[in-house]
Amino acid sequence: ETALRRGGAASSHLPRRFFSVESSPERKVAVLGAAGGIGQPLALLMKLNPLVSSLALYDIAGTPGVAADVSHINTRAQVAGFMGEEQLGKALEGSDVVIIPAGVPRKPGMTRDDLFNINAGIVKSLCTAIAKYCPNALVNMISNPVNSTVPIAAEVFKKAGTYDEKKLFGVTTLDVVRAKTFYAGKAKVPVEEVDVPVVGGHAGITILPLFSQATPVSNALTDEDIKALTKRTQDGGTEVVEAKAGKGSATLSMAYAGAIFADACLKGLNGAPDIVECSFVQSSITELPFFASKVRLGKNGAEEVLGLGSLSDYEKQGLESLKPELKSSIEKGIKFVQEN
Ligand code: NAI
Repeated sequence: ETALRRGGAASSHLPRRFFSVESSPERKVAVLGAAGGIGQPLALLMKLNPLVSSLALYDIAGTPGVAADVSHINTRAQVAGFMGEEQLGKALEGSDVVIIPAGVPRKPGMTRDDLFNINAGIVKSLCTAIAKYCPNALVNMISNPVNSTVPIAAEVFKKAGTYDEKKLFGVTTLDVVRAKTFYAGKAKVPVEEVDVPVVGGHAGITILPLFSQATPVSNALTDEDIKALTKRTQDGGTEVVEAKAGKGSATLSMAYAGAIFADACLKGLNGAPDIVECSFVQSSITELPFFASKVRLGKNGAEEVLGLGSLSDYEKQGLESLKPELKSSIEKGIKFVQEN
């Protein structure tokens, strides 16, 4: 019945430009925390993605409304809302990609690590359910502190015997999105052509944009400009937290970034070539067990973790300075699961 309905929709309602992707495989995406500040616009953007055939929206409250609303959009994905722990299994079953923006955001004056006590438990319980209901899904971790929640997820999956390092991603795309925007503004180059890798982690100085590798190349930027751009990229989240003055952190730009990363995961799963995005993954690029760098996405998830390339002296310094903080955030996550 579902197939029939979908077929009918394809021939009569979808715009013509979607026909080419109609033959793309069925893909289920689940969003956990779908009624939140990030979750809602992310649900909207995933509903607009023609690679998604089924969209499951899960939260502890509010999802029936979000799902009903988004479901009226005349695009391919069939939308269903799930609310409360007893419906989590159904939300997850059959998922190819699970996106996790569940948990509390920062308020002014807070670091991402201040969220640890609440979000660690939320992530742990959601990942326990993922191990049970969709152990093969690619997991896109948005919940902060990402530097700790990714190691938490890895430990939960290891305990459950389902861990595959190729399938776990910390979403650092917003750092890349910011670096691109700020670089384009300063270098006066067209923003849509800009590429800037951002490596390390996702908090403060652990966010290391590699402007020496930015394209299009700009010779107009001084060392001071690069320092200012680096700092602004590292503090981009705080800029939004302060502007929102207690009403949360980045949600709209984060939803955009999350949608870009999930789309890259789906393209990789579908066998599209040359899909590369920065992400915080298990890594042997440095001595740290997890690290963000460019990752090649494919049918099994992270097919290849790419190296850092050549760094400027300023970036080499930044890399050394970020390691102690990143190391301790990773260890904090691992310890949390081992002790709880
Ligand atoms: P929000 O408070 O607006 O939404 C969070 C949602 O999670 C709420 O709807 C809440 O009901 C839900 N939730 C809480 N416990 C849950 C559970 N056990 N299962 C399912 N859902 C649950 O927060 P917002 O602004 O959407 O931020 C979410 C997270 O994303 C925060 O941890 C924030 O720090 C993080 N974030 C990450 C970024 C990144 O670049 N990776 C950027 C911006 C935010």
